[in-house]
Amino acid sequence: MTRPLPPVECWDEVDSTNRIAAEWLRAGCLHGRALRARSQTAGRGRLGRSWTAPPDSGLTLSVVLAGPEWFALAPRIPLAAGVACADLLRDRYDAPVGLKWPNDLVFGRRKCGGILCEGVTNGGRFAGIVIGIGLNINADEEALGVELAGRATSLFLETGRTEADLDGLAAALRDAIVAAAEALTTAPPERLLARWAELDSIRGREVWFGEGDAATSGIAEGIAQDGGLLVRTADGLRTLHAGEVTTQPPADTR
Ligand code: BTN
Repeated sequence: MTRPLPPVECWDEVDSTNRIAAEWLRAGCLHGRALRARSQTAGRGRLGRSWTAPPDSGLTLSVVLAGPEWFALAPRIPLAAGVACADLLRDRYDAPVGLKWPNDLVFGRRKCGGILCEGVTNGGRFAGIVIGIGLNINADEEALGVELAGRATSLFLETGRTEADLDGLAAALRDAIVAAAEALTTAPPERLLARWAELDSIRGREVWFGEGDAATSGIAEGIAQDGGLLVRTADGLRTLHAGEVTTQPPADTR
């Protein structure tokens, strides 16, 4: 790993840590620079969604991978970040965290975190990747909100553990993510895919995915070499590269 990495910065309130990290990248920041915010006013999620969390109820962290060399590895970065996060939570809290494609962190069917990786260009040139992580750590049911009830969870709700040192967790997570990304430059991809498969929470389960107005179902069969999700449908084996799958049938199909 490139050493020393700059200390993880902690800001009180920002719009989005990913937006700020992208700005840093365009300004030529150091590899591994990272920012956590105690709260975000416009946190971004995947698929154009937002990410909301009460102040200090968890971790909102963005990590910069600086340099054009990360372009070639971009499809595997979300997988590597997911594995790094899950393994760190498992080691640090003895928590049975799994992964749900493409990169949700889950306890069983309930989501406790998500990852949003964004490629950043500067004047038409690829500048690097921002890895954004949102983790529900200390949140109780009230903090998670009625809207998410049943679908979301936190480390506290699942294990009874809380984390007072969110700065320490952010630093450990940043180091683990940078190390996992850098390992991709030397280790064969099979190692990452094998660990992802061990953490896969939906393999062998029925899943639904949207196609236009319709929903198709099939059995999740793990991750393809290129990071797509393999799903065995009535029409054969499909590889999904975008979107998401659900493990509950959409309300209007049954
Ligand atoms: C998802 O949709 O599951 C991904 C959520 C990613 C949220 C994190 S919070 C820190 C970083 N800053 C953002 O604006 N988003 C990511």
